[in-house]
Amino acid sequence: LQPKSMQVFLKLCLGLVLLVAQYAPGIAVPSSDCPRQCGTVEIPYPFGIGANCSLSVGFNISCKVQDGVSRPFKGDFEVLDISLTHGTLRVLNYITAYCYNASTTSMKFFGRYDGYVGRPSSLYRLSDVQNKFTVIGCNALAFISDYNGTGYQGLGVATCRNLSDLADGSCSGMGCSQTAIPKRMYYYDTTFLKGVNTSEIWEFNPCSYAVLMEAATFRFNTTYINTNKFNDTYNGRVPMILDWAVRDVKSCDVAKQNNMGTYACLSSNSDCVDSTNDQGYTCNCTNGYEGNPYLQDGCKDVNECSHGPCPSDCYCHNIVGEYRCSCRLGKKYVKESNTCNPNTGLIIGVIMGLFGVMVIIMIIVFWGQRIIQTEKLNKVKQEYFRQHGGLILFDRMK
Ligand SMILES: *[C@@H]1O[C@H](CO)[C@@H](O)[C@H](O)[C@H]1NC(C)=O
Ligand SMILES: *[C@@H]1O[C@H](CO)[C@@H](O)[C@H](O)[C@H]1NC(C)=O
Ligand SMILES: *[C@@H]1O[C@H](CO)[C@@H](O)[C@H](O)[C@H]1NC(C)=O
Ligand SMILES: *[C@@H]1O[C@H](CO)[C@@H](O)[C@H](O)[C@H]1NC(C)=O
Ligand SMILES: *[C@@H]1O[C@H](CO)[C@@H](O)[C@H](O)[C@H]1NC(C)=O
Ligand SMILES: *[C@@H]1O[C@H](CO)[C@@H](O)[C@H](O)[C@H]1NC(C)=O
Ligand SMILES: *[C@@H]1O[C@H](CO)[C@@H](O)[C@H](O)[C@H]1NC(C)=O
Ligand SMILES: *[C@@H]1O[C@H](CO)[C@@H](O)[C@H](O)[C@H]1NC(C)=O
Ligand SMILES: *[C@@H]1O[C@H](CO)[C@@H](O)[C@H](O)[C@H]1NC(C)=O
Repeated sequence: LQPKSMQVFLKLCLGLVLLVAQYAPGIAVPSSDCPRQCGTVEIPYPFGIGANCSLSVGFNISCKVQDGVSRPFKGDFEVLDISLTHGTLRVLNYITAYCYNASTTSMKFFGRYDGYVGRPSSLYRLSDVQNKFTVIGCNALAFISDYNGTGYQGLGVATCRNLSDLADGSCSGMGCSQTAIPKRMYYYDTTFLKGVNTSEIWEFNPCSYAVLMEAATFRFNTTYINTNKFNDTYNGRVPMILDWAVRDVKSCDVAKQNNMGTYACLSSNSDCVDSTNDQGYTCNCTNGYEGNPYLQDGCKDVNECSHGPCPSDCYCHNIVGEYRCSCRLGKKYVKESNTCNPNTGLIIGVIMGLFGVMVIIMIIVFWGQRIIQTEKLNKVKQEYFRQHGGLILFDRMK
């Protein structure tokens, strides 16, 4: 089933073309004048707003004012959150819908027709781990395909007889379905199969929906079938996760060897992590450090003791890169169970030590008595010697 061969299909193309990166040679440190906030969203380096504030064009974020509120955008997508530790961008993706209009007695497509085309050099990939192609409806069949429909094509099907078949929170085919996507997708395009439509069931299900979205934030509600609630709850958009990475080299090994000048993990105590979704790498602070690995000295020691990792009867010592727990006298810290256990070794040692000291004291006392006794005997002998004329006898012998 090629969408191209079915020209009557309504076609939605969501492109990540504006997310394409050209790499500037060398890495400049961003100026402290660079804005690090857009509305309520933090914009950490390597991302940046405006000239010379990001690592490369691909990390450039634009901050737009809409309805009096500043909102960050990456290409067409509003950015909700940037995560350096997970290498992800949470953006708002557009819901596509295919609805029956009773007054015109025809089906109508809602969504975006923009046919942008992504490029493999883009920093961004659709997260295959966190996103699911979600289709909602009682007679809905939608396709998801990558670059110009020539490669991967996935299918989402949702059916039901009537509302009594449905259950809130259940999304496994009845009124709702979730389909996984493959890795390395930087572009996708959604179409509904025209022959599978809601013209017969519009009274309880006027619209079918299809969108690639973050699975963790979605919970199916039966009202999504017979009302506009799914579209209204999120105002026509839903969260979607993009995996980003520095993609000018294949992996960390290459980045460290060949491109010393452009190696992005600038901070000491940082690690290079191979991207799990296509080529490239991200940076992470090593264990015990947190902060921004893309900035010189950006990774700072974590004061682990501040969140009480040791048992309550323990003392916590923060040391660079890690922490130590130490217990009171007579107890020993056991890392595996994170408890203070009685220190049997120490107790036995103390007992043996005490025993040793006692033995030494006994020996000293014994010898002392022997010496005193010998001295007493000598005195008695001398006295006896003198009393019985021993000295006279001694003189005589001389
Ligand atoms: C980012 O975009 C702004 C305009 O939106 C542009 O002036 C600036 O040069 C861009 N920055 C980079 C690093 O390309
Ligand atoms: C950005 O950097 C380039 C080269 O260092 C410089 O020529 C240019 O003036 C800078 N632009 C801004 C807006 O600071
Ligand atoms: C970075 O480190 C944090 C904490 O050590 C960990 O939770 C996270 O998964 C790491 N990120 C990557 C991409 O490995
Ligand atoms: C149905 O179509 C008519 C004419 O295009 C339009 O005015 C009306 O708003 C549509 N109704 C719905 C529910 O979309
Ligand atoms: C797009 O489609 C055309 C044929 O329709 C094909 O030749 C071309 O290689 C495709 N482009 C990509 C990047 O897949
Ligand atoms: C749903 O369909 C079943 C079987 O076709 C029927 O028994 C039931 O009454 C219907 N329920 C509603 C609310 O229409
Ligand atoms: C709906 O699908 C049927 C085939 O299942 C087709 O005959 C009909 O023309 C379609 N209706 C609209 C309005 O597209
Ligand atoms: C479904 O939506 C209705 C209407 O907003 C709400 O009252 C109900 O609590 C929702 N059900 C669940 C399970 O979230
Ligand atoms: C969904 O909401 C958006 C924004 O409010 C609107 O433009 C679009 O027409 C709605 N779609 C449907 C099918 O109602």
